[in-house]
Amino acid sequence: MATPGTTEEQTATGTLDITDSRTGQQQSIPINDYAIRASDLKKIKTDDPEDVGLVSYDPAFMNTASCRSAITYIDGDKGILRYRGYPIEQLAEGATFLEVAWLLRHGELPTQQEYDQFVHDVTYHTYVHENMRTFLHGFRYDAHPMAMLCSAVAALSSFYPSARNIFSAEERNISIIRLLAKVPTIAAFSYRHVKGLPVVYPDNSLSYVENFLSMIARMTESRYEANPAFAKALEVLFILHADHEQNCSTNAVRAVGSSHVDPFSAIAAGIAALFGPLHGGANEQVLRMIEEIGDVKNVPKFIEEVKSGKGSRLMGFGHRVYKSYDPRAKIVKKLADDVFKVTGVDRGLEIALELERIALSDSYFKERKLYPNVDFYTGLIYRSMAFPTDYFTVLFAIGRLPGWLAQWEEMLLDKEQKIARPRQIYTGYQERDYKSKLTSKK
Ligand code: ACO
Repeated sequence: MATPGTTEEQTATGTLDITDSRTGQQQSIPINDYAIRASDLKKIKTDDPEDVGLVSYDPAFMNTASCRSAITYIDGDKGILRYRGYPIEQLAEGATFLEVAWLLRHGELPTQQEYDQFVHDVTYHTYVHENMRTFLHGFRYDAHPMAMLCSAVAALSSFYPSARNIFSAEERNISIIRLLAKVPTIAAFSYRHVKGLPVVYPDNSLSYVENFLSMIARMTESRYEANPAFAKALEVLFILHADHEQNCSTNAVRAVGSSHVDPFSAIAAGIAALFGPLHGGANEQVLRMIEEIGDVKNVPKFIEEVKSGKGSRLMGFGHRVYKSYDPRAKIVKKLADDVFKVTGVDRGLEIALELERIALSDSYFKERKLYPNVDFYTGLIYRSMAFPTDYFTVLFAIGRLPGWLAQWEEMLLDKEQKIARPRQIYTGYQERDYKSKLTSKK
């Protein structure tokens, strides 16, 4: 499946001529960018004066474009992913995460001056209000870090009431800077809380990723020096996760943001969506699955259970859009080798490779075009870097943040967008009279 709207003009536009068999009437519906407008279906009606016209029915948005976007292009059949036209492989190889964050939002790579100013701004805003630290301390020792992150980012909106002024370019800019700067701090504080360790405040002399690692791992040293292989791996993983067009969490950010709520609340909605095991939570589930399999000899039995539908799905496999190898998964697999050179090979790698080998040669997976997605190997890398399993999705959230923000702003500035409000096909009762079944009422 490819993102529509990018091919030859003469085939992208035209008309769709429809004959309604109920009335015999013909309608001509314009086609633009390989799409018809669902609202054009409204004019297809019967003579019944109460008929409001046809709607399109598309649970889970299987074939509905909800916006025009110039940010990310995916061709799922060919395994192509590009941010603003740049192939993901080239960005992962040469760009920094903040450079990609700028690119996603502004559409062009930053000049040196723009980049330096941007890095300065993000670095300058890494501290959070002390109340945020005490807020995080209110969570139990075993709180899931995604629950903490989601609540804390929503709580940020109470610290910056002027962020509600979303149609001020200045306010949007400072909110975006604040989110990029503070989310890693909050994420690291929640990690330290769960570990029972004192928080480490940001070190503004470090890079974005090094500072994050410092806030995670620094103990008594006066200055934390991240392992360069870890810092590089995390930088690349953040870039790979930075955007993925209209995925579940981005759709959540856009939908919630379309109510014109402040960006902290909209991003909290994205974090909540990412938490789910069918989305960003999959990286955590992959590791749990590998642990459950336990030994490479158990892989064939596990695969049979997946195929019979008795067991769980093969986590980290399959994608709504990619019907070939996820290009990010290829880069992640290579990255895993680099990290394992430092840490030694993760004990789950053998199981993961065997799962992949069997699945890629099995007709069940081949027929359904199920390939490893980005989450299949990321968990092994994160575990090798000593991140706890339930922290993996937090790392995904930090990476995805620039994409959510760029998409949120694009949605706000898109004159065609309105509050997101889908239609439904009502399947319930028609009118009936209220007759209580209760025998007593308070
Ligand atoms: N293991 C086994 N079977 C699968 C898997 C899987 N991982 N994924 C899909 N299938 C099967 C389904 O059972 C279905 O089979 P059927 O036609 O016989 O009923 C068929 O493949 C199509 O599956 P759908 O659920 O219709 O595909 P959809 O596009 O809705 O789902 C999804 C995509 C949610 C990613 C799915 O592949 C999945 O659950 N994968 C595992 C979770 C995962 O790794 N999620 C991360 C996605 S990447 C990301 O969010 C970063």
